[in-house]
Amino acid sequence: MIPQEIRKDIFWVGAIDWNVKNFHGHTYTTQRGTTYNAYLILDEKVALVDTVYGPFADEMIEKIKQVISLEKIDYIIANHVEIDHSGSLPQILKLCPKAKVLGTQKCKEGLFRNFYIDMDFRVVKTADKLNLGKRNLTFIEAPMIHWPDSMFTYCPQEKLLLPNDAFGQHYATSQRFDDEVKQDELMDEAKKYYANILWPLSTIILKKIEEIQKMGIPIEMIAPSHGVIWRKDPMKIINAYVSWAKNETEPKVVVVYETMWGSTEKMAQTIVEGIIDSGLEVRLFDVTRSDRTEIIKEMLDAKGFVFGSSTHDNDMLPTIAGFLEFLKGLKPKNRVACIFGSYGWAGGAIKNIENILKDTGIEIVQSSLSIQYAPDENDLKACYEFGKDFALKLLK
Ligand code: FEO
Repeated sequence: MIPQEIRKDIFWVGAIDWNVKNFHGHTYTTQRGTTYNAYLILDEKVALVDTVYGPFADEMIEKIKQVISLEKIDYIIANHVEIDHSGSLPQILKLCPKAKVLGTQKCKEGLFRNFYIDMDFRVVKTADKLNLGKRNLTFIEAPMIHWPDSMFTYCPQEKLLLPNDAFGQHYATSQRFDDEVKQDELMDEAKKYYANILWPLSTIILKKIEEIQKMGIPIEMIAPSHGVIWRKDPMKIINAYVSWAKNETEPKVVVVYETMWGSTEKMAQTIVEGIIDSGLEVRLFDVTRSDRTEIIKEMLDAKGFVFGSSTHDNDMLPTIAGFLEFLKGLKPKNRVACIFGSYGWAGGAIKNIENILKDTGIEIVQSSLSIQYAPDENDLKACYEFGKDFALKLLK
């Protein structure tokens, strides 16, 4: 595969990982695979911005060789220590012995703890510059977007931002640019990526976007480290990030439940009917049969959450327990919720869901609905009204 020139003398030399279906361990389902993007900048000096995940090192090296011999690389910019971007660094350093590595202090420490090799490393800070000849690279520290070491690289002559993980998508495609792919598919993946990785860092992200806007740097192209490059309208993804980071929501409800013998499921379906009849958008997920990554994406712009579980051993069922623990880590803000569930002889699920939602900072806006064994006609009427009441609270 030939390297793709994204600007004059700037080449995408990354790799497409069509088959990866789980990322970050099993915290993220990458149904559309991903890409590991690395960029080669040819000037009087040659810079490689990021590398790729270790198993794809040879693919990157072959692409670089089609443009320039590797020993001519002067600088490797390490925007991020995580191994999907640094994993091939030890291999490539052997092939370009004069290359100096540039990154943050935390990156330097992290690379050493990952690989235990010595490298010629220059620590950079925000506003530090690297002259390549006709072009400069400027560095912007971006701690906790999404690791402490994270950094953005900016090229003013090209109006090109290389923000590593920020603005990325886990989206394997033969196309390299935003205007070459289906827009709904692209934004779906960008939203999924934000919801599952960046959501808890929203306050930091908003501040960083404001900081960059105050710097007044023109941006014509954003080339992230995963997915396609934003060249048609970089503001589209920046504006989407601002909205997500502000926790802006729609009058939409996501219902997530787990059922043991079907009673809690009947309740969930009837609650959803009440919400639909109130005119609200709703999504229903049996957590045991759904992709968690997809549910979280749907929650990103939903104002209301409804959670249900049968009781087992005086507690909620285990899959929804894991789901709620994951959600707690994402720190959603400005959300409201209600809870329901069926029990046999002693409850417990509802109380424990209430506790975890309190810990998560989600406001419970109505009394929980609990039903013994299977719901009868009156119970189902109560479920329907429960859904309607919740929808009305959201619409206020
Ligand atoms: Fe934080 Fe794509 O790695």
